[in-house]
Amino acid sequence: MSRIRILPENVANKIAAGEVVERPASVVKELLENALDAGARTVRVETEAGGRRMIRVSDDGYGMAHDDALLAFERHATSKLRTADDLLSIETLGFRGEALPSIAAVSRLLLETRAAEEEEGTRIEFAGGKLVGVKPAGLPAGTTVSVADLFYCVPARRKFLKSDTTELGHIASVVTHYALANPDKHFVLKSPTQDIVDAVPATNLTDRVYQLFGRQALDELVEIPPVQAPVRAAIMEPEIEAEEYAAQLGASGFVSRPEVQRANRNSIYIFVNRRLVRDRLILHAIHEAYRNIVPQNVFPAVLLFLELPSEEVDVNVHPAKIEVRFRHPQFVHDFARDAIRQALTRARPVPSFVTAAAAGAAGGATQPSAPAIFGDANTGGSARAVIPPMTPFGGIAAAEEFTLTTAPAQPEAQRFQFEPGATEGPAPNAVSDAPAPTFAQRFREIATQQAEVPASASSLLDLKPLGQVNASFIVAVNGEGLWLIDQHVAHERILFEQHLQARRAGQLTGQRMLVPIVAELSPRQLVTFERIAEELSANGFEVSPMGPRTVAIQATPAGIASADAEKLLLEILDGIERENSAISLDTLQAKIAASTSCRAAIKVNMPLDQKKMEWLLDELARTDAPMSCPHGRPIVLRYSLREIERAFKRI
Ligand SMILES: Nc1ncnc2c1ncn2[C@@H]1O[C@H](COP(=O)(O)OP(=O)(O)OP(=O)(O)O)[C@@H](O)[C@H]1O
Ligand SMILES: [Mg+2]
Repeated sequence: MSRIRILPENVANKIAAGEVVERPASVVKELLENALDAGARTVRVETEAGGRRMIRVSDDGYGMAHDDALLAFERHATSKLRTADDLLSIETLGFRGEALPSIAAVSRLLLETRAAEEEEGTRIEFAGGKLVGVKPAGLPAGTTVSVADLFYCVPARRKFLKSDTTELGHIASVVTHYALANPDKHFVLKSPTQDIVDAVPATNLTDRVYQLFGRQALDELVEIPPVQAPVRAAIMEPEIEAEEYAAQLGASGFVSRPEVQRANRNSIYIFVNRRLVRDRLILHAIHEAYRNIVPQNVFPAVLLFLELPSEEVDVNVHPAKIEVRFRHPQFVHDFARDAIRQALTRARPVPSFVTAAAAGAAGGATQPSAPAIFGDANTGGSARAVIPPMTPFGGIAAAEEFTLTTAPAQPEAQRFQFEPGATEGPAPNAVSDAPAPTFAQRFREIATQQAEVPASASSLLDLKPLGQVNASFIVAVNGEGLWLIDQHVAHERILFEQHLQARRAGQLTGQRMLVPIVAELSPRQLVTFERIAEELSANGFEVSPMGPRTVAIQATPAGIASADAEKLLLEILDGIERENSAISLDTLQAKIAASTSCRAAIKVNMPLDQKKMEWLLDELARTDAPMSCPHGRPIVLRYSLREIERAFKRI
């Protein structure tokens, strides 16, 4: 007897449903996407019992004719794709033809639809994947899908569902995402007791953010004005015509000001061609953009919309379509990073003692995380919901990011909290009992401390050094207050900018070693070495192959002690290796400059005389970004005169 058999269709559908339908929020996601693909201008979502008893999604899109409505429940039945080639440039949210049959397989589903040009509509009922009724019906144009008793025939799945409020929180987040991505459409989300979202068509994203999150959230954000990719001097992927490519990329959205700091990534929303995605590459770009600005392990709130030609993104890499692959990842990465960075440079304050201390504490992995400014992109929860990780929207979140419990004792900077819908109606799913101060209250407290004397790069101009703390931190004063400067990172910043400038002007020369240093490279390091050998020599390195895996370092960039030469080379190679295979020349040069300057900079625990300190502060003031080192640590802390006066209770 043969062992292999083709699975019956209802079994196959249940398996597919396992991938697509994880919980009520995934049903809402699929139905919302269908409504948007059908050109809907208004989408209403009604739920009962967190979506497990009922989810109803109605739209005023183009509806379906009778035969199409039946066909829609066949697996791989779609109107959005015809040939395999179409897969290379998908412009709709759906394309797999899996969602409706998958949902129908695990619920009691009622589809009511009428195509605008038809007189009569169609009503189709399924139960556990079986067709139980088809009738003509008088219906308005558009489509309504009602999904009752989700997972009633899959008890194992049912058990994994969380409380109704938690599930409703996930649904609220999904609706919020799509409302953000489509400001011109009307979105409604209701439960039997609450109007959770009612966002009428808005003219722009700013108004939509206001509708969903209120005025205070807008105050915490900096807009990324719509930008197009700048033309890079050179890209290490020869097949790309940089100029042509750049003209097709666009970015817009909002990013949080540097003092808004989150302990996890839940407030980061990334949209690629209006599709919400979780993408490691873009997360990395965001991280890099904030690197100089927020401490490590601290995350911003981001609403980033990337637009690129559909053939540049492969969306067919994940069953729930929440991951994408870019054809030119490094380019997109650098573009996103630069767009955010530009927006942020306009809003970069100098860390004060108070915020730096709080932010430092926020970086500790053991701290519980606060609810997110925008709600919860990973978990689908709205801002106040206390929600565990999930896939599909939680795919990327590491376990340690979900340590949220009730009433955490948090440092100031972490307790920012924001309620969506604060402007109108009740807060959605207010699950957390802990009366936390609102985001705005907390922010105002810190903002007033910072806004008193807007500190900028020019604040450093007339600093007078007084001495060192622990031979590591320079103490200095000027009219603005008292300053502490980390001597190592300050020097690192100076060298970094000098190095990069000299490199870009083609003026870097190396220093020869008395005795060449022999270094052994791993096969991967060797490959990387060959790839960037030319750039290394333009940075002052002279490295020649000796044996199959050994190289001799004959010269290094200036300022590097011979004992550090090998470490520096290996650090550069390993740093590049971790990057994507396509790394832009800009990034490569910055990485080499960062590693070199870190090695060459004066260290901590090194006494400096007055002249040296003066020189250091002087040079620092001349740099473009004197506030943070190339690796992102703060360089200076300021205790402003106002803070001092307040601390002494003089004001
Ligand atoms: N709300 C709707 N309005 C109009 N047509 C719809 C609607 N929902 C579904 N359809 C039609 O039914 C088809 C099947 O829908 P389904 O969601 O199963 O697949 P899909 O959207 O094509 O792909 P995916 O599985 O990726 O979502 C769609 O291609 C579309 O033609
Ligand atoms: Mg679909």
